[in-house]
Amino acid sequence: EAPRDLEVGSAVWGQRELIGYDRKHPTEFQRILGAEFGSLTPENDMKWAELHPEPGVYDFSGADAVVAFAKANGQEVRGHTLLWHSQNPQWVTDASAGWTCQEARDVLEEHVRTVVGRYAGEIYEWDVANEIFQDDWDAGGVRLRTEANPFLKACAEDPVALIGDVFRWAHEADPAAALFLNDYNAEGVNTKTNAYYDLATELLADGVPLHGMGAQAHLSLQYEFDESVTENFERFADLGLQVAVTEADVRMPLGDDGEPTAEQITLQTERYRKLLDACLDVPSCSSFTVWGFDDARSWVPGVFPEGYATIMTGEYVKKPAYHTLLDGLRDA
Ligand code: G3I
Repeated sequence: EAPRDLEVGSAVWGQRELIGYDRKHPTEFQRILGAEFGSLTPENDMKWAELHPEPGVYDFSGADAVVAFAKANGQEVRGHTLLWHSQNPQWVTDASAGWTCQEARDVLEEHVRTVVGRYAGEIYEWDVANEIFQDDWDAGGVRLRTEANPFLKACAEDPVALIGDVFRWAHEADPAAALFLNDYNAEGVNTKTNAYYDLATELLADGVPLHGMGAQAHLSLQYEFDESVTENFERFADLGLQVAVTEADVRMPLGDDGEPTAEQITLQTERYRKLLDACLDVPSCSSFTVWGFDDARSWVPGVFPEGYATIMTGEYVKKPAYHTLLDGLRDA
């Protein structure tokens, strides 16, 4: 059981795992997913490419499967995501080349009101705007993605006004949902989270219904752990915002045998626990989500020469990282 009101969750790709779910005959994966977590995040099912494949055409099958599974298992659902530069369908990529800002707004508003409205009352947190800042090491330093994000690009003259309106549309469509900014490399105090802190301050001053800041926490053992996570969470909490760990996993380069060393496993365990402890340290940390719970489904090996990132092996063997999270929740 999680302490206070902390929701502990996992991502799941509904389209792949939950279509046709039969509660009386769950797969081993479905059994674990339903038993171990209080919250689910659709890994891909609520992204534009999956949800809105053609103008005026929606495919809610994957997203509905996640929401139905959560309902059947007494779980909450985090919505992910409404405004992002990635996984947009081809028609958005093609059409956006010629959009005026008003045309971009019209497309985005219709999508937000349709999607958020469909699940009104069933989503406790939405990642409204995902990865809208690019990193320091991208050319040009930390700035809004007014090149890569088609909506921010069309409204590059005043992207903050558009961002604020996306939150307003989402809030009107579902006043019950807590509305989040969300990004990677957004765990500690750094130039990126400084930019988010300033943006959040500006949005709140404009009366925008912004409720939280999500740190994806996609970590790698190739980099040092940023020990300023609690400090960073506390400053967003001081703005009156919730914080959340939204996509935790800890990847590492593996040996020729595809296995980690004992030292890597120890480091992974420590980092999962540090993320959870930072969330437990800050009362306004509302959810802690792992980005999938088993190595067989992890996104990591398809993108990095790394793996072993989740809390269970591909055969659902619980790793020390799983046990340290459970211990941390019990000790909270
Ligand atoms: O659905 C299509 C399928 O029809 C097609 O046959 C297949 C061919 O490759 O592609 C499928 O799309 C895949 C998509 O997931 C499903 O929507 C893409 O290949 C695959 O690249 C894509 O990967 C997802 C990735 O986001 C895309 O950026 C991962 O599963 C997902 O875990 C990952 O999640 C992101 C978060 O949303 C945001 N934070 C970072 C995190 C990791 O990148």
